[in-house]
Amino acid sequence: MTDTITLRRPDDWHLHLRDGVLLAAVAPGSAHFARAIVMPNLVPPVVDAAMVRAYRERIVAATGGGSFEPLMTLYLTDGTSPDDIDDAATVCTAAKLYPAHATTNSAAGVTDVEALTPVLERMAERGLVLCVHGEVTDADVDVFDREAVFLERVLEPLRRRVPGLRVVLEHMSTRAALAYVADGGDDLAGTITAHHLVIDRNDLLAGGIRPHNYCLPIVKRRADREALVAAATGGAPRVFFGSDSAPHTDPNKLGPCGAAGCFAAPVALAILATVFEEVGALDRLEAFVAERGADFYGLPRNDGVLRLARCAPYAPASVATPDGPIAVFAPPFALSWAVTVQESAEATP
Ligand code: DOR
Ligand code: ZN
Repeated sequence: MTDTITLRRPDDWHLHLRDGVLLAAVAPGSAHFARAIVMPNLVPPVVDAAMVRAYRERIVAATGGGSFEPLMTLYLTDGTSPDDIDDAATVCTAAKLYPAHATTNSAAGVTDVEALTPVLERMAERGLVLCVHGEVTDADVDVFDREAVFLERVLEPLRRRVPGLRVVLEHMSTRAALAYVADGGDDLAGTITAHHLVIDRNDLLAGGIRPHNYCLPIVKRRADREALVAAATGGAPRVFFGSDSAPHTDPNKLGPCGAAGCFAAPVALAILATVFEEVGALDRLEAFVAERGADFYGLPRNDGVLRLARCAPYAPASVATPDGPIAVFAPPFALSWAVTVQESAEATP
């Protein structure tokens, strides 16, 4: 039994860092990642290159200009133009498609995806990746079916209309999403969060409702979770890690209409180490967190290293903010791995 895991320094291909006092409070929880794709669903949303640049500067200030590199995204709206894409391409790695009203701060998201075709074509030309929140919002579609229906009704037609566009189906939560990505060819990838690997809808709803386990896409059946574990740990091609770490203060999560999101970044690697070890696949963890994502995005793999050490069992503590505490996502088991060393490329001899 190994007590230390050494990895190429990992990346997080889907992260919410928020803004203002929350940004300051949560950014340290991601400092051990080399890079992260940072989501643009602020209030107001990050809809043009100038806003992206300003947000990037706030992130760099909050992370102390250290060895963490934010990879920025543009928030697509019905008003985004191909010219906006030209501007965004100078500062962004990707653009994000939120179907309007699908999740947190998505009211300004896209209502007519087909009308966005010229924008998506310009993205393909510029090499900007499309990050997708893959859920329909139609009131007649059950919340547990929204991802599977999105694949048929929205994503497949979109990809046929814009060949050559590189697409990431984010936070996959169903067997249907895994199958779709597996068959989707080299321009399609999918991310998996740490929390979707360790909780299913029983952990959300059985024996009492647990708002800290509420996220979108909502966690599904155990069979879906098991399929996600098999894909992540089995080395499925074009499937890699994106935490979708989405902090909300406890007052916002615990009210009568609680916000969706799990603040998982600080413990994500400890969770992944547990999951991969349990199925005897620790040798595949590095590919999931530090190789396949970089390869898909066409970015170099990181040079630095990160080390995890086995430790006494612990439960994550909350992070304090002036707006109230933020509970760190707690899996349904005690954590027993901790990040001990993280060296950026510059520090590596
Ligand atoms: O659970 C989620 N929280 N899912 C999302 O898609 C958005 C995120 C957030 O920003 O709170
Ligand atoms: Zn997200």
